[in-house]
Amino acid sequence: EKGGYPHFMLKEIHEQPTALRATIGPHVEDGLPQLGVDALTDEMLCGIRNIHIVACGTAMHAGMVGKTAIERFARVPVDVDIASEFRYRDPILSQDDLVIIISQSGETLDTLAALKLAKERGAKTLAVVNVVGSSIARAADWVIYTHAGPEIAVASTKAYSVQLAVMYLFALRLSLAKKTQPEEEIRRLTAELQRIPDQLAPLLSNCNEIKYLASQFMNSDDLFFMGRGFDYALSLEGSLKLKEISYVHSEAYAAGELKHGTISLIVNGTPVVALATQKNVYEKALSNVKEVKTRGGRVILLCKENAPVPEDVADFVVRLPEFEDIFMPMLMIVPLQLFAYYMSVLRGCDVDKPRNLAKSVTVE
Ligand code: M6R
Repeated sequence: EKGGYPHFMLKEIHEQPTALRATIGPHVEDGLPQLGVDALTDEMLCGIRNIHIVACGTAMHAGMVGKTAIERFARVPVDVDIASEFRYRDPILSQDDLVIIISQSGETLDTLAALKLAKERGAKTLAVVNVVGSSIARAADWVIYTHAGPEIAVASTKAYSVQLAVMYLFALRLSLAKKTQPEEEIRRLTAELQRIPDQLAPLLSNCNEIKYLASQFMNSDDLFFMGRGFDYALSLEGSLKLKEISYVHSEAYAAGELKHGTISLIVNGTPVVALATQKNVYEKALSNVKEVKTRGGRVILLCKENAPVPEDVADFVVRLPEFEDIFMPMLMIVPLQLFAYYMSVLRGCDVDKPRNLAKSVTVE
């Protein structure tokens, strides 16, 4: 049932193009995004004043990408909350607010409780869920299903990718309703989104490069991730994946925060994965990498194919296909997942069932 793969996680990483096609396909009509929720008319969408995205773990990280995409395209303010924080902090909600709940399983207890609270307080609720008929899907006003298929490995991979796809589709659809972008631009970006599954092939066949990198870092006790904007959101997810299945301590930093404390941790040989895929902050990101390198950090830099990388800035450079900046998270996630996977394999961990963790967290 692992389809010839040694672990479900690797199988599920490789299923991402299929999962993305299944999720994006039904949500594009005549070249424009459509959510498949009748109630989400232009009028309804234009009435949304604030958006709150609430989720746990990896789903929350998908929400962080969603925030950046929605704010950039549709110019609606978005908060992202951890469900267990949101539900106990007396959140301020009104009927003009939309609460987007993201959950692969649809059964995460804190996320379900946050959804119920949002409803009690009169907000509109939209669930982005993978498991059909799950508790969260049933409780929300509206549902958009992701089509990842069953995800067995505890570490979430393909479910995250399809959550990102829905975040982008939502951002584009909201932008269309609010007319914050020309329709032609929305068409162009929608077409680009549809091209993403094909872009993943070279990244998925790049296993050997990533496995080699993992072999170089497998004995590390700590490993840092850093980036800005979308790259920061992906740093958080890369770091979670790594610590979850390889048991290597790891933290992710917004690169600009380094000099506010973190950089004191960087000494000779400290491993740092630097993500730098966004043109608008590329120079800033590189200067953060240089700061790390100057202090002896051992750097893996992830950047685009044609990005200029000065000599001696990084020990290893992983090149990603040239693609629209805003969609780079969907490409970059693949090497991050593979890195965590190979670290776990090389360290002899139980990849699919890491200690102390359950696939679906139905207790507080
Ligand atoms: O089923 P959910 O999406 O609600 O699960 C949320 C988290 O428990 C989940 O994403 C967790 O963080 C993963 N094991 C991370 O790989």
